[in-house]
Amino acid sequence: MKVEWRVDPEVNKMLWEKLSLFPVQTIGRTNPDFVLDLGGGSGDFASPLMAGGHTTVISLDTDLEVLKNRVKGVQAILGDATRLPFKDSSIDGVTARAILHHFPLRMDVCLAEVKRVLKEGELFLVQEPLAHNFFANMARRSVLTERHEAGEQPLDPSHLDRAMSQVFHNEWKEHHFLLSYLLPHLTYRVPDSLKGIARRFSRFAKMLDERALNSLPGLRKYSAYVTILGRKA
Ligand SMILES: C[S@@+](CC[C@H](N)C(=O)[O-])C[C@H]1O[C@@H](n2cnc3c(N)ncnc32)[C@H](O)[C@@H]1O
Repeated sequence: MKVEWRVDPEVNKMLWEKLSLFPVQTIGRTNPDFVLDLGGGSGDFASPLMAGGHTTVISLDTDLEVLKNRVKGVQAILGDATRLPFKDSSIDGVTARAILHHFPLRMDVCLAEVKRVLKEGELFLVQEPLAHNFFANMARRSVLTERHEAGEQPLDPSHLDRAMSQVFHNEWKEHHFLLSYLLPHLTYRVPDSLKGIARRFSRFAKMLDERALNSLPGLRKYSAYVTILGRKA
């Protein structure tokens, strides 16, 4: 079955707002001149870094159409994340949201390229979907969306961890969403009369997820998403 990618804006914001603040809260603190958003598409993830007017954000993507619709002010490069058209040690920060799982077998090549172009001591912020969340997998098995391409393969958390730590010093990691991953999509689809209940339930599920992921480390491998902050040593 193919469905349109539609979400309830209120629940989507509630669940994703925190994750979208990480570029500013991490790389933003280093006062960067140039930040590369790998597979950045519209550049939505890294674009808040431009707020002070000092930082240039470059979205590098293989898809010309998504680059054409980028956030105002974001620079664009049509290119492949496994062959970066930048000099060694020339970039102040790199973000990558939901891109490594597009080429899991070439992920190591991409990580080595990121390390090559990053300046010494600078940060690489990765955010990726993971392979072992029950609800996300149920949706992947039964539903296709226009957002998903053939070949995408959400990552095994320990594989991603290992791959990152072979190349970067992993400074920090946070897992997201156990029960709540599909709730923006489900809330969009319930009748208007039930939306209030669905939104309250979503808030409750988010709180449960955060508590469980904080206090029960064994559950983290079942989360739907992870953020990892690596530093080039
Ligand atoms: C799920 S989208 C994420 C877009 C953006 N990072 C965001 O979070 O809004 C994945 C993006 O990765 C891009 N992509 C896939 N393989 C790529 C590659 N080898 N090099 C650069 N971009 C790639 C796709 O074209 C797509 O725009």
